[in-house]
Amino acid sequence: MNSNHPSDLTPAGSADSAREFDSEIETNAAERSHASPATPTQIHASGSVGALIRADKLLAGYFPGVNILNEADLFAHEGELVGIIGPNGAGKSTLLKALFGLVHINKGSVTLRDEDITNLRADQLVRRGVGFVPQNNNVFPSLTIEENLEMGSYQDPSSFNERFEAVVSLFPTLGERRKQRAGSLSGGERQMVAMGRALMMAPSVLLLDEPSAGLSPALQDEVFIRVKEINQTGVTIIIVEQNAARCLQIVDRGYVMDQGKNAYTGTGNALANDPKVIELYLGTLAQA
Ligand SMILES: Nc1ncnc2c1ncn2[C@@H]1O[C@H](COP(=O)(O)OP(=O)(O)OP(=O)(O)O)[C@@H](O)[C@H]1O
Ligand SMILES: [Mg+2]
Repeated sequence: MNSNHPSDLTPAGSADSAREFDSEIETNAAERSHASPATPTQIHASGSVGALIRADKLLAGYFPGVNILNEADLFAHEGELVGIIGPNGAGKSTLLKALFGLVHINKGSVTLRDEDITNLRADQLVRRGVGFVPQNNNVFPSLTIEENLEMGSYQDPSSFNERFEAVVSLFPTLGERRKQRAGSLSGGERQMVAMGRALMMAPSVLLLDEPSAGLSPALQDEVFIRVKEINQTGVTIIIVEQNAARCLQIVDRGYVMDQGKNAYTGTGNALANDPKVIELYLGTLAQA
């Protein structure tokens, strides 16, 4: 792309020349976009402006010198429901953990509103309005539902009653069974407890790692409905899902992650109908 800006070339006041230049840029852009669609990096650059949360070119991993994330980019605008799909081992959980301060980011940045939150601790992130529901071991099995929810508001116990009411209005079963130990709940009910606990701090961004994993199709459906409901209360959600086809149906935008970076990105609908995404990812993932 020509690096000269119109103002570098156009004498002040020469609007016609500027218009010619602009239309040339537009023509070139149209030709380019026809020849080759925008890359995930280009989409990130233009789409991420003003995002509520964004990750830029993350390099992160579990051991020094071994990066699992390989320049991963991601953004979510306020109120968006964003999905991440991709094969096993692609780095989806690692990305969520890096956003939540659980995996060290070696390079790149995470920004919430306009604040740099790269490598902040999880408790600092919770205070700033980020919630996380991990893929595994996401409830305290020996504690009751109510105690699990109390753990969610440990940073602000005075808000417990108000938040408890808000959470049980979304998940009435949690209120009815508040004295039941989480370990005795079904898989679907445990997911509700885990999401409820993360909601106790009224997060503005909720990171969900495979909330439907291991559930029957009927319970998976319930999880997706709940996720959509939470989103409709105004919570921005970034959800990693193994049920890729279903995930793309409910999200506003999605990312296909492969080998630690975004292979494809677009609206849920566009990804679900993209022949390459279907061939490479949805064919096998949808049957998983
Ligand atoms: N705690 C860990 N210590 C070392 N390596 C890890 C750890 N967790 C994950 N990895 C490695 O990081 C890579 C990405 O794993 P990650 O869990 O992020 O993948 P994923 O996309 O979430 O996969 P899945 O769909 O199976 O959940 C894998 O090669 C995995 O072996
Ligand atoms: Mg995972």
